[in-house]
Amino acid sequence: MRNPQQVAVVGAGVVGLAVAWRAASAGYRVTVFDPDPGCSASWVAGGMLAPVTEAWPGEEDVLELGEESLRRWPDFAAELGDVGLSTAGTVVAALDRGDADQLDVLAGYLSRAGREAERVTGRELRKLEPGLGSVRSGLLVPGDLAVDNRRLLRLLRAKAGAEFVEAEVTGLAGDHVETGEGIRAFDAVVLAAGARSGRLHPALADVVRPVKGEILRLRPRRGSLPPPGRTVRAVVEGRPVYLVPRADGELVVGATQYEAGFDTAVTARGVRELLEAAERVFPSVAEYELAETAAGLRASSVDNLPVLGELPDGVYAAAGHHRNGLLLAPVTADAVLAWLAGRPVPDWAVPASPDRLRREPVDAR
Ligand code: GLY
Repeated sequence: MRNPQQVAVVGAGVVGLAVAWRAASAGYRVTVFDPDPGCSASWVAGGMLAPVTEAWPGEEDVLELGEESLRRWPDFAAELGDVGLSTAGTVVAALDRGDADQLDVLAGYLSRAGREAERVTGRELRKLEPGLGSVRSGLLVPGDLAVDNRRLLRLLRAKAGAEFVEAEVTGLAGDHVETGEGIRAFDAVVLAAGARSGRLHPALADVVRPVKGEILRLRPRRGSLPPPGRTVRAVVEGRPVYLVPRADGELVVGATQYEAGFDTAVTARGVRELLEAAERVFPSVAEYELAETAAGLRASSVDNLPVLGELPDGVYAAAGHHRNGLLLAPVTADAVLAWLAGRPVPDWAVPASPDRLRREPVDAR
């Protein structure tokens, strides 16, 4: 039976902070290590909590884990305070015939899987979101939510109840964490360092890799049409784009997806592609102020499922959340808390166990 008192969490992105907050609330003494706590992928992110519109045939475990976490989100948010949780839902817009065909694949899959998603015509979609450009058809997914990721991270950090160590971790095992300042002993160590997790632990080296995403933040100006009321997703010339409105009027447009190692430069091409796609979907964005460009590194795994569980040296892996770090934060924290308390692995966490890593990797989307 485990009896940890002192818990180290490596990584202060949404996953690490959620774990720290939950663990400290449960009575553990928690230390969070991160050399640059404000720079996680979850800070850059759009904030979609979208298991259904992120779903794809063959990724049923990802969908089910995402839905398990989505169910926790309203309480998770309410306990933290005003994190800007939007329940307005998501629409998916198909701009041309190719997009409509792709939407048919998603809609058919969701309907066979019994998920709530309604096919609508372009005209019906534009009635709901009049600022949309020319749209051939669409899909309404009322259950997918969104959160103001930056408000969320500020609140998590403020309420974490943990000691923060702003230092690069140079080594770790189940009973210690090493930084340039020395080695500190712990009863339990949780690795939640996002894309860096693969560099920090050999068991994750070939499993978790960075996938770059660039994102824009835009603000409507006087006289311009306000942003859409719902999250809008589309595929424009084969590239997915999403527009996530914030309560304060900001519109987040994302995201590119590149395998570029640990490069976080925002490229001219990335910005151009996102702006062109966003303008096709919602033409008024051309009038908006471009307030920010940023890039983050998703922590993608070999099968797009996170790795949740104990590694051979006793470190608990909470990594590899791919496009779903914000969505999966509540369920990840619950999995870690079950492990700290010595409870069995919850049924819903079994598919994400590191045991599966011995299987053949599949192509990442
Ligand atoms: N969750 C959306 C993205 O990773 O771009």
